[in-house]
Amino acid sequence: MSVLRITGGRELRGEVRVHGAKNSVLPIIAASLLANGETVIHNCPKLSDVEAAIKILRHLGCRAERRDREVAVDSRGLSRLDIPHGLMREMRSSVIFLGALLARGGEASLSLPGGCELGPRPIDLHLGALRALGAKITEEGGSIICRAARLRGRRVNLSFPSVGATENAMLAASLAEGTTIVTNAAREPEIWDLQCYLRALGVNAYGAGTPTVVVEGTRISADVSHSVIPDRIVAATYLAAAAATRSKVELSGVIPAHLATVVGTLREMGCEIRAERETLYIESDGNLRAVRPVITEPYPGFPTDAQPQLMAAALRAKGTTAFVENIFENRYRHAEEMRRLGADIKIEGRVAMVTGTDKLTGAPVTATDLRGGAALAVAALGAEGVTEISGLHHIDRGYDGLEDTLRALGAEIRRA
Ligand code: EPZ
Repeated sequence: MSVLRITGGRELRGEVRVHGAKNSVLPIIAASLLANGETVIHNCPKLSDVEAAIKILRHLGCRAERRDREVAVDSRGLSRLDIPHGLMREMRSSVIFLGALLARGGEASLSLPGGCELGPRPIDLHLGALRALGAKITEEGGSIICRAARLRGRRVNLSFPSVGATENAMLAASLAEGTTIVTNAAREPEIWDLQCYLRALGVNAYGAGTPTVVVEGTRISADVSHSVIPDRIVAATYLAAAAATRSKVELSGVIPAHLATVVGTLREMGCEIRAERETLYIESDGNLRAVRPVITEPYPGFPTDAQPQLMAAALRAKGTTAFVENIFENRYRHAEEMRRLGADIKIEGRVAMVTGTDKLTGAPVTATDLRGGAALAVAALGAEGVTEISGLHHIDRGYDGLEDTLRALGAEIRRA
């Protein structure tokens, strides 16, 4: 089993080009089922979650080929409408295929996606949205079966602005008869990126980025190409790594507006950050100070996916910083591993109180989940001595070349 071996204390200098967004690629891969033609996705990162989604497309009878950071999908060959247990286990966010399969094939079934490291991951909002559009949904032998001869455009109100449920509703609505209005929709940039892709297919979809998304159902048969937006969470991860060390780092190919809350918090911690069109410059002397509570909320609030990485930066900040995790029930598992490095973190329910210590000491730790694992790498960069991180399969789900990028910035890191 390989580990990341990091010797902390190095300065980070140089430029990072941030790769495409995992959470844009995955719903767009699902949406390519609607195209009934060839889709080429550019700026597509090499991630195990993307490979899992490609495996699902092939299982469904579509052609899907990767050429470096381009993925070509031809969904004319769609011949199955089920996602088996094994593929669901590999990637629980495969639930995002439900709406497109149902819309294209009139039926969709998937094995119930179990919980994950972040706690139970219910899909009630997804199923409620599909029912509103006319789907009949039954549960048989651990699988969810959705059927709808014809979906009808309707008003779909989400009781919580779920990213995945918003995406499933948009995809099902794309082939429905009439217009769908999704209210209390998620406003994440990845929703806007998905809307761009749907519009390229010829779907009249608008409102993404606001709480009301409108999709006028239509027939689709189109060949399109689409370049996904940069990954704002990967960018946040590199910013946190720069903050936790002495650094002068330039992130290129980013959309600074997508990182406003993360940049605001890091500036409060004492980092110098300058934003230009597609570039963020960050300078840090590694001496950070505690900040007002970091409270995770749906976009445009502070992103839950950057909470672990910002906690890693706060581990040596003078004073105490409170984190409040409002999105997931169990998203502090990285704290236990950070304590092994000497971190002072007290957790009470949704609140984690992080009191900066003047030094962290390297130790063997285990990644608990995707962003928690990346956060351990950030903490290790600011620790004295050697940290070995195991459980790399978590990190490989969402980071394309994390260690190569950090090593290019001067970090002493390698996969052993
Ligand atoms: C997406 O997950 C992202 N994943 C997550 O990123 C991200 O953390 C999350 O949005 C929030 O921003 C992808 O886009 C592939 P939600 P998703 O539905 O769609 C509850 C990462 O690290 N909920 O907005 O699953 C749910 O339990 C991953 O890249 C219901 O109760 O997130 C959670 O507490 C982690 N019922 C909350 O809503 C539902 O039907 C947010 O979930 C759906 C969700």
